[in-house]
Amino acid sequence: MDGMCEINALDFLRLVNFVKSGYGIDLEGKQFIVQSRLANYVADCGFKDFSDYLEAVFDDNSGREVANLINRLTTNHTYFMRESEHFDHFREVFLPQAEKAITDHDLRIWSAGCSFGNEPYNLAMCLDEYFGFRQQNWDLKILATDISFNALRSAARGVYTENALENLPEEWRRKYFDQTSHGLYQVKDRIRSNVVFKYHNLMDEINFKKKFDLILCRNVMIYFDDKTKSQLCKRFYEATEEGGYLYIGHAESAPDDMPYVKQQPAVYRKLTEVSSR
Ligand SMILES: C[S@@+](CC[C@H](N)C(=O)[O-])C[C@H]1O[C@@H](n2cnc3c(N)ncnc32)[C@H](O)[C@@H]1O
Repeated sequence: MDGMCEINALDFLRLVNFVKSGYGIDLEGKQFIVQSRLANYVADCGFKDFSDYLEAVFDDNSGREVANLINRLTTNHTYFMRESEHFDHFREVFLPQAEKAITDHDLRIWSAGCSFGNEPYNLAMCLDEYFGFRQQNWDLKILATDISFNALRSAARGVYTENALENLPEEWRRKYFDQTSHGLYQVKDRIRSNVVFKYHNLMDEINFKKKFDLILCRNVMIYFDDKTKSQLCKRFYEATEEGGYLYIGHAESAPDDMPYVKQQPAVYRKLTEVSSR
């Protein structure tokens, strides 16, 4: 690697603190990965060295340099049917309960840390399967948020390679995707229009208009420390309807003071009152 773009210990510490306090992501011990993700950019953009680049990030009032940094540092790995136990729970437990309990037919689902959109589209396809013709009586829009503008842009297009579809039932490929002229697959308009992509930093207050019946925050908190996780779960709890659910990644541990009640691995429920849901 070009010596010019090596990060010295002090700069790395400044970067770690900046990203951790602003975005929750803990980069400690990941100096090599950080360096490899930034080195080309720092060199190509003509910064003198890494310190020079960092000054530009800290002084950037437009938000562009910071957004670019976040695009490069986030880990966006995702795929369809990831942790299929959640999709089983969604279809077999969550949806039948929700259909009975939500009398105004406004179902609120939030995919928090949605990356390239596989997770929220997967849910939208399950909703289509489950509700069929009944969906015309329901508001089934899914909110999907992330801090990576690159990921959000790609998610909104909803274009995937054939390989990316391998975990989905063969029938879904025909039902929910259009083949593009480049041999790629795009999620059909009617499914895409049921997912609303937005920028939201999970370190910020949650100010969405209504509470959620289900929040998925899977494979996101794995990068957060205990205190950040605990604060985030409290904010999620406040934003969850009574009887609503939180799904976290199976490899993630819940904070010690988790306010939700555990239902099964990686599935939590808000049960403060005696609930009929
Ligand atoms: C590994 S992906 C997980 C995607 C999907 N939930 C799944 O399980 O397949 C983690 C995502 O969390 C996002 N993320 C990390 N920190 C975040 C934060 N503070 N606020 C919102 N999203 C964040 C990253 O940009 C990334 O797209």
